[in-house]
Parts: sequence; C-alpha cells; structure tokens
Amino acid sequence: MSRRRRIYEGKAKILYEGPEPGTLIQHFKDDATAFNAKKHSVIDGKGVLNNRISEHIFTNLNDMGIPTHFIRRLNMREQLIREVEIIPLEVVVRNVAAGSLAKRLGLEEGTQLPRSIIEFYYKNDELNDPLVTEEHITAFGWATPQELDDIMALAVRVNDFLAGLFLGVGIRLVDFKIECGRLWENDMMRVVVADEISPDSCRLWDLKTNEKMDKDRFRRDLGGLLEAYQEVAQRLGILPEQDRPPVTGPTLVQ
Ligand SMILES: Nc1ncnc2c1ncn2[C@@H]1O[C@H](COP(=O)(O)OP(=O)(O)O)[C@@H](O)[C@H]1O
Ligand SMILES: [Mg+2]
Repeated sequence: MSRRRRIYEGKAKILYEGPEPGTLIQHFKDDATAFNAKKHSVIDGKGVLNNRISEHIFTNLNDMGIPTHFIRRLNMREQLIREVEIIPLEVVVRNVAAGSLAKRLGLEEGTQLPRSIIEFYYKNDELNDPLVTEEHITAFGWATPQELDDIMALAVRVNDFLAGLFLGVGIRLVDFKIECGRLWENDMMRVVVADEISPDSCRLWDLKTNEKMDKDRFRRDLGGLLEAYQEVAQRLGILPEQDRPPVTGPTLVQ
C-alpha cells in the first residue's frame, strides 16, 4: 500500500501509479470540501460510498458504450482507471435551476429549465473555477472545437442515462458535473468521461420530499450527509447486505 508512487493528491481523492503503464489507482478519501476548499471537514465513510456509487455509474456507462476511464473497483476505497490527459474543464449539465445558476439569473431553486443546459467552468482553483464560454475554451486551446463537440455529446448521453437511473429510484437529477480526458489507444485519441460521478458531484433531490441527498448537505450545513449518501447507494441497490437496515417484514396481527 505505502510503497506505491503517489502521482497527485487532490481535495477528495489521491491518484497512485497503477500496476501497468497507462493505468492509475484512484483512492477516495473521506474529506469533504466546498467553496474551493475554504470549507473542509472529514466525514468517515464518505470515500467508501463514493467509490461504490461511482463504480456503479461508470460500469453502467461503459456497458452502454459511453467511453470512460473506469476499469474496475479494487477495494473499498480504490478503483483502477486508465490514465488520461484531463481537459481542464468542469462540464456541468443542469436540468433544474439550483446553486450558482439560480443565483446568477435570479431563478427560484427548483425551477425546471426549458431544456438541459451545459455550462463550462475552467478548472483552476486559484481563479475559483470561473464560468467560461466555448470561445474562451477554443481560443486558449483548452480543447479543440472537435473535442468540445465530443464533450457535449458525452455530457448529453451521461445526463440522459443518469436522469433515468435516478428517476427509477425516486430521485430527481437536478444537475451534475463531469470531467473529461484524452485517452490514447495506439495512434487514436478519444475523449472519455474521467474523475468520479457521485453525490459529491451531482445535485440529487428526493422526488417526493425534495430532500437534498448530495453535497449541498455539507455546503449548507444541513447535516446527515453520510446518511443521505447511504440512502442513494441503497436505492441504487449497491450497499452490501450487512450495511442495510434490517428488513421489517409484515407483522402478524392476532
Ligand atoms: N483518469 C484520470 N487520469 C488522470 N487524472 C485524472 C483521471 N481522473 C481524474 N483525474 C484527476 O485527478 C484528480 C482527482 O482528485 P480530486 O481530489 O478530485 O482533485 P481536485 O482537488 O483537483 O478536484 C482531479 O484533479 C482529476 O482531474
Ligand atoms: Mg475533484
């Protein structure tokens, strides 16, 4: 465990050198950060849940032919991934107004958007991940026009899949963020979905109660973050049996 070479340590994850060239090990920490790490705390067990939830989602994306960096989960906290060249953008897809969009445009949180909207943020902590346009992205060479087309097509496919997945378990997909990267296979390059997809990177609201089941519980000091992530995992059917609450069957009425 300790003799592996650490490639990068970020806010929520650590990347280690993988067993073969072109692979990495992605380790999920328990750290929760918000507002560009100005707010930080450790939530025991969050990393384990995000590892499992992200595994579930990426496995499904791979099965549907949506290319990702994900190879397989290795253990409770780690997964084997393909090393990619990360495109320095946070690609946000929104279905319902919330967070910074609601604030910026004066929309009430929870307003259904006329259609899904894709936004790009330049991934740069020093600048607080500013909102950028396609013009900025291509002018500064962060991605080519062709890559941007590929990224948007991926984002739409991921949104369609995720919205359906969550709707099926009584959860509204308000918005989410993905990161994409360049993956080389021989002389061919393709853009794939990288990083993680978990309640840290999505806004998930209970369909009936509108209860938040995502990182906004931490951002807004609502408490119960771990329980909410557990509930998401449970609804997706991916919590090991022993972590599920005891099944309460019908009681015999005398
Ligand atoms: N397949 C991959 N290859 C290389 N880098 C990756 C891959 N997937 C994710 N990353 C990068 O690894 C880092 C994951 O750690 P994280 O804690 O999320 O970092 P950050 O604080 O930069 O968001 C991110 O910077 C992400 O862009
Ligand atoms: Mg990150």
